[in-house]
Amino acid sequence: MKVLIADKFPEKYIEQLKELDLEVIYNPKLGENDLPEAAKDVDILVVRSTVVNEKTIYESKNLSLIVRAGAGVNNIAIAAANRKGIYVSNCPGKNAIAVAELTIGLMIALDRWIPDNVIDFRNGIWNKEKYSKAQGLYGRTLGVIGVGNIGKEVAKRALALGMNVYGKDISRIEGVAIKDFSEMDQLLPLCDVVSVHLPLTDQTRNLFDQKMFSYMKDGALFINTSRAEIVDEDALLWAIENKKIRAALDVFKDEPEAKSGTVSSKLQSNPNVYVTHHIGASTEQAQNAVAEETVRIIKDYLTSGVIAHWVNRARITDAKYQLVVKHYDKPGVLASVLNVIREASINIEEIENVIFEGGIVACCTMKLKEPLPQDLLNQIKNNENVLSVSHVAI
Ligand code: 3PG
Repeated sequence: MKVLIADKFPEKYIEQLKELDLEVIYNPKLGENDLPEAAKDVDILVVRSTVVNEKTIYESKNLSLIVRAGAGVNNIAIAAANRKGIYVSNCPGKNAIAVAELTIGLMIALDRWIPDNVIDFRNGIWNKEKYSKAQGLYGRTLGVIGVGNIGKEVAKRALALGMNVYGKDISRIEGVAIKDFSEMDQLLPLCDVVSVHLPLTDQTRNLFDQKMFSYMKDGALFINTSRAEIVDEDALLWAIENKKIRAALDVFKDEPEAKSGTVSSKLQSNPNVYVTHHIGASTEQAQNAVAEETVRIIKDYLTSGVIAHWVNRARITDAKYQLVVKHYDKPGVLASVLNVIREASINIEEIENVIFEGGIVACCTMKLKEPLPQDLLNQIKNNENVLSVSHVAI
């Protein structure tokens, strides 16, 4: 089996993949447009932020698993992967501490104007007078928007600084984050600092628009280490101008794809915005933790078929009924049960057959789209190799 690693990945973990008898192709320089060709014949693809677009997925012949060596999966064309039955998994939580550490760093940097201090010093300017006007963070209020793995780590650290921390959680349905963000009009006015830790979904795209910024306190600090598309940058510039908000961002629109080169952004010339180079997850600790998890996911997949952190598994199916059949574990028994269901042209949405110790009896649980008619249920019950049948609406 071939594995392509299309982003930076620690050597030690590449060796571990090789030990699994995999042919490992390591090419961290590949970009979005190189991937369709590079991933054509591979079975497993490992990426960090490199975009896996529809072309890569449709043109792949053997691809069966894509591992996002990180948290956010918005760089992967998941709908296309769904159509080809390609598993997508990620490494949630493994870089949460690194992102939280950067968030706290940005918060202190904003409060103390640290980057401006440094720039002035480098330019031979001494300005103790200007930079002695920080407010301090102790006793001030932080709003954590998105209390997942990263938001929780940020909250813990902010509490240790003596801040009051409010959280705005999101919930997940069908693999996407959904939330009515209406209470933000009550939360944001309380916060001296607002820090965003949301995944990018249809519900969170452009969440921070002018209306949302208008709820924030004048002079508050705004931090985004999650995804650029959650913030409308024009609205942020409006808030900087009209509400004296100051911001620190690890992500911004049109981030360069290459790891080094030039960069251009409308935020560049604004002294009230600090931008870091999308380095939230880029500590050695986090990269090792993510790589270790990636190896674990691939190993589990190869040895047991189980996909850890399988993000494109349907959370909700069309199943409305559950059929549980306990049966003797003999060849053909399950096939005869399935034949009965086929007679009724009912689709089985999900099926799991587990076996009792000793290997005499097994239990098959099926999720069905429609109810099984009574006569067919009786047919299954009357099978001499079936011990019990239960059929319920779910
Ligand atoms: C993530 O979603 O894990 C972060 O955005 C990290 O991105 P990176 O792996 O490209 O640094």
